[in-house]
Amino acid sequence: MHLKVPAGLDRKEAEVYSRLHPERLPQHIAIIMDGNGRWARRRHLPRIAGHRAGVAAVRSVVETAARIHIPSLTLYAFSEENWKRRPRTEVSFLMSLLQRYLKAEVPTLNKNNIRLEYIGRQHELSSDVQDRMAWAREATGHNTGMTLTLALNYSARTEIVDAFNSLLAMAQQNGGVAHLEVDEEAIARHLYTRHLPDPDLVIRTSGEMRLSNFLLWQLAYAEIYVTPTLWPDFRGLHLLEALAEYQKRERRYGGLVEDHGNGIPSRQGKH
Ligand code: FPP
Repeated sequence: MHLKVPAGLDRKEAEVYSRLHPERLPQHIAIIMDGNGRWARRRHLPRIAGHRAGVAAVRSVVETAARIHIPSLTLYAFSEENWKRRPRTEVSFLMSLLQRYLKAEVPTLNKNNIRLEYIGRQHELSSDVQDRMAWAREATGHNTGMTLTLALNYSARTEIVDAFNSLLAMAQQNGGVAHLEVDEEAIARHLYTRHLPDPDLVIRTSGEMRLSNFLLWQLAYAEIYVTPTLWPDFRGLHLLEALAEYQKRERRYGGLVEDHGNGIPSRQGKH
């Protein structure tokens, strides 16, 4: 047993948690929530039933992450492509689901000391959705525990385009582009995620091995964990299992394996 189990975990969660190293928990976990449609199809239900069931998974994962004191959790809720490529009826269902989620969840977020943030082009969403989002952000703005960031109408490439334009606009206000100095820190300060450290771990449910235009800059050194579990079936226990797997990995950030007992670093693997 490495550590005291936090309150609120059930027996199975506590068992997995007790094998984790608290000092090596990720500071930021990002999740690509996928498989709602497949979950519904397997049950001969409409796709929207999968999205509705996905909300229970969101609740469970958010609560467990907060209980084990993960500082930042980012959920890929709706991509920019989702809006363009899905039927209108599905998109408007997802919108109303989001609005209901925000209204219903604020008391629980406050109880768990969770602050809500968003990334993505919010101004392209309808004004009532934007209003509800702003209300929920404000209502949780005083919390000091986990930052829960919802990626809504999000695209990583669009984020990078917006960052470049934001850098240029700043330069124009400060004496013109001749003075513009661009380095990694400058770019990171203009990304939507400027309030967050880069994710240490990205989880994707339902088996696809893709990043799907999610946090392409920020995931440069993240560990990738893909599970066949469909999002509506994913719970806090699955998150803890992902953390157990994460802690087995060795993160090198492009360096060499440190210690083999002979003081000579291994030359295997450059990534
Ligand atoms: C991917 O499944 C999921 C989405 C596009 C929407 C995610 C939404 C939720 C989990 C519920 C609402 C979330 C919040 C934060 C209120 P898919 O439809 O692409 O599944 P498929 O690949 O099996 O078709």
